[in-house]
Amino acid sequence: MNKGIAIYPGSFDPPTNGHLDLIQRGSKMFEELVVAILRNSEKSPMFSVAERLEMLRALTADLKNVRIDTFNGLMVEYAKSIDAVCILRGIRAISDYEYELQMALMNRKLEPTLETVFMMPADKYSYVSSRLVREVAQAGGPVKGLVPEVVEQKLREKLDPAYKFHDANIVEAAEGDKNRKAPDKKRKRKA
Ligand code: PNS
Repeated sequence: MNKGIAIYPGSFDPPTNGHLDLIQRGSKMFEELVVAILRNSEKSPMFSVAERLEMLRALTADLKNVRIDTFNGLMVEYAKSIDAVCILRGIRAISDYEYELQMALMNRKLEPTLETVFMMPADKYSYVSSRLVREVAQAGGPVKGLVPEVVEQKLREKLDPAYKFHDANIVEAAEGDKNRKAPDKKRKRKA
């Protein structure tokens, strides 16, 4: 167990089983792990910061050395403000490496005292990303096993009204077809 605080920053929109796997591994490695949700992301998120905070808190309730927080602006500034000594990031595949290396080196340039540590989630989550989970869920596909149940439920709650609306339109259209009067043969003009 490493002494001091480590920070695991990210968007977590939504948290996946891969994130949770990394949090569990990180909590065994560090004295304290702060999972930090970026507040000022340029992307338009699916879940509000408050929703992500709530989900992550529920998911980590049993991990006593894990705290969930949010941050704005430069991550290294926030890390310094909470006396973190380490940044934790997950690498799933070689394709993650280039972006992560660039970010780690930039963060080192900004704050040389902060080390970045990379960890791998379980290989069964190596293809799981928040973006793909959102894409699959939005298209009505199953996300069971990719995200924790709490998140699966939240996705359902968020997306169900759209499906209901969609279903209602289909029913309405079908009813409309049924009720539409068949052309009155008698009224047909003789050619
Ligand atoms: O989960 P993500 O979206 O890959 O996380 C990216 C995140 C939030 C870690 C990164 O974008 C970040 O730290 N943003 C805060 C702004 C900042 O410090 N930028 C310089 C990073 S090199």
